[in-house]
Amino acid sequence: MSEKRFDATLAYRLDLPERITWLPPQEVIRALALEAGATVVDLGAGTGYFALPFALAVGAAGRVIAIDAQDEMLELLRRKIAPSAASNIELICAEADRIALPGSACDLFFLANVWHEIPDRAAALAEAKRVLKAQGRIAILDWRPDVEPEHGPPIEHRLTPASAVAELGAAGFQSGSQRNIGKYSWLVQATAGV
Ligand SMILES: C[S@@+](CC[C@H](N)C(=O)[O-])C[C@H]1O[C@@H](n2cnc3c(N)ncnc32)[C@H](O)[C@@H]1O
Repeated sequence: MSEKRFDATLAYRLDLPERITWLPPQEVIRALALEAGATVVDLGAGTGYFALPFALAVGAAGRVIAIDAQDEMLELLRRKIAPSAASNIELICAEADRIALPGSACDLFFLANVWHEIPDRAAALAEAKRVLKAQGRIAILDWRPDVEPEHGPPIEHRLTPASAVAELGAAGFQSGSQRNIGKYSWLVQATAGV
């Protein structure tokens, strides 16, 4: 396991109420233009900071597939899912490069705060491309290396959005948009193309 992988004993940090002030999920939902009925993969979902509001945004006709390599993290998410909302969230324990989903399974493949933890990002992108529909989108959100690290991983673990754009291009994605989001993060989007 990569030494960069998030320590599950620190999972409480992902749910600190103050986090909403510096990384508002609603701002991310707007930037992604999430639509009702969409099927979204949340890779590295952790305790569901994004998966739960995404499930509300896509509604009963949509679906969120929350994937994480650590079952302890998914267990914390499982406990938060209200029985009434459970119908549109599915939990899968898997590594980024070996996802137990058929091809062309999702409209949006989202990764938040996990990109810098993945040891083989090219393999993860190939897997994302496989599970995305032909017209699907990938969105990568991660920590800015150019702001003081009051939170998050050490500065030397952080990657630039430009490097994500280059890796997406090398994996065959079509370039999309790039912006900062919240106080400490960047968001890069690209399309799967055909
Ligand atoms: C820092 S947490 C972020 C959780 C959530 N996305 C958020 O922003 O609140 C990173 C999560 O990614 C998971 N993870 C790390 N490497 C992974 C990999 N290669 N495949 C799947 N999940 C991974 C970790 O177990 C952890 O739960």
